[in-house]
Amino acid sequence: MGSTAHTLPTSEWLRLLEKRRERMYGETLDLSTPIAWKSPEEQRAAIAFFNAAFRAEESGLRQAHEIAGDIEAWDPELAQVLRLYGDEEGWHRELLTKFIAFIGGEIRPMGPTTRTFYKLYARAKRHETIVLTNLMFETIGATTYRLALRTAKPHPAIRQMLTILTRDESFHVPLNAHFLRRILEREGPAAGKRLTGLYHLLTAALMASAAASRRRAKLFDNIPFPTLARAYAEHLGKLFVHADDLGFTPSRLLLATVGLRRSDLANGADVLSAEAAERAADRSRVVVEAL
Ligand SMILES: [Fe+2]
Ligand SMILES: [Fe+2]
Repeated sequence: MGSTAHTLPTSEWLRLLEKRRERMYGETLDLSTPIAWKSPEEQRAAIAFFNAAFRAEESGLRQAHEIAGDIEAWDPELAQVLRLYGDEEGWHRELLTKFIAFIGGEIRPMGPTTRTFYKLYARAKRHETIVLTNLMFETIGATTYRLALRTAKPHPAIRQMLTILTRDESFHVPLNAHFLRRILEREGPAAGKRLTGLYHLLTAALMASAAASRRRAKLFDNIPFPTLARAYAEHLGKLFVHADDLGFTPSRLLLATVGLRRSDLANGADVLSAEAAERAADRSRVVVEAL
């Protein structure tokens, strides 16, 4: 385990996001090939899958823009980075709106559990709470989309939508770690300590959410519950393995429920590193590299 090896300064994140913005709006979905569904149930599961993605985008966009307004007072450059990040989520929301219509669905009201969750999240006021929650959401988003790319229906429009989401959410993971670091630097070590409980609670809640999403979306993405729960535990656990300074260590007990040990997490790339960020930032690269 190493500590923070190499991180990017805010100015560099700003440069990357500005470069991404130049290409972003030129990238459009190719929806020219209609999808032949195996069954109405498969189609319904696809609509549920992308509705969940839509809600995550919407919430990410709102929170990023809201806290940018507060952060403006002490770090205008970081505030601008947050706005551009929120804009990327807004762009995803637009793409998903078109995509959901293309697959014969509509944006649905949230179910009671999801609604409660987002309500609680929307009430969170502390910036570090919001950013840690976002970071963990980005991680499970990137993980789910990457797995779905392997096992969901091999249709070009579905692949394109999942590829865009996997690529961009992978970039948002180290970006949110940067927000978290900057906010904790300002708030002091006590703020970081207060987050430890939330980190464990969210890890458990997100793993439980894998069960709920299986009921609604598995017929589309074909990801079995044990695979998804293990991938969540692994990726949420790995998140901070190379970032000792942030002080989050996954619970042994929780890892054990999916057959993992802390030592299993030490291998593999550092997803929060500057190198990972640079790699994921380049929109011209194909996401298959990361599979
Ligand atoms: Fe997104
Ligand atoms: Fe994101």
